Amino acid sequence: MSTSPNIVVWHESAVSKEERQKRNGHQSAVLWFTGLSGSGKSTLSALLEKELFQSGAHTYRLDGDNIRHGLNKNLGFSPEDRTENIRRIGEVSKLMVDAGIITLSAFISPYRKDRDQVRSILEENEFIEVYVKCSLEECEKRDPKGLYKKARAGKIKGFTGIDAPYEEPEDPEITINTELLSLEESVQLIIKYLKDKNYIV
Ligand code: PPS
Repeated sequence: MSTSPNIVVWHESAVSKEERQKRNGHQSAVLWFTGLSGSGKSTLSALLEKELFQSGAHTYRLDGDNIRHGLNKNLGFSPEDRTENIRRIGEVSKLMVDAGIITLSAFISPYRKDRDQVRSILEENEFIEVYVKCSLEECEKRDPKGLYKKARAGKIKGFTGIDAPYEEPEDPEITINTELLSLEESVQLIIKYLKDKNYIV
């Protein structure tokens, strides 16, 4: 083993974030979708990404189930693992924002402190918290993957909303109530926000 101290030096990129954004023709930021399982995070972020991409924006979507197949496949659903899950995704989101990309991150991210930690590593206006609001009753009724049923039967332990907590955002940039709005209305609301705040033209 080396006896020299482990010194890691940060290297500035030769191409700046601003240069990348200028070429892309839009600001970069992370749209952070948080909400209960079944609230509509994946569906909403997927359709929004499609519309943004088709209008010429540089986009990428990170989604709970997919990331847990690769980057975070060694993590489960204990509080510590969920915190590490969100920490890693936050760092990946930051890299994508640095690459000039409008990043859509859709994770339950049940703990306020974990979402705030991601916000803290980004610059102001680079973290847009989107609360995908839907009552537990409605999510349970939808139960698209049959997971609530399993959780109620005790076959899944520590399921968010049943026997694990979900901490609602206190001051999200955007709230989408998926019990009241249609999917297309929800997408348009977020696009309007991005235009009003000059992220996109
Ligand atoms: S977290 O809490 O942010 O780390 O979760 P996330 O990475 O978004 O993964 C959520 C998806 O994992 C499935 N799943 C569970 N969710 C909640 N609690 C438990 N115990 C659990 N076990 C598996 C579930 O399909 C979630 O997907 P979505 O899309 O949210 O329904």
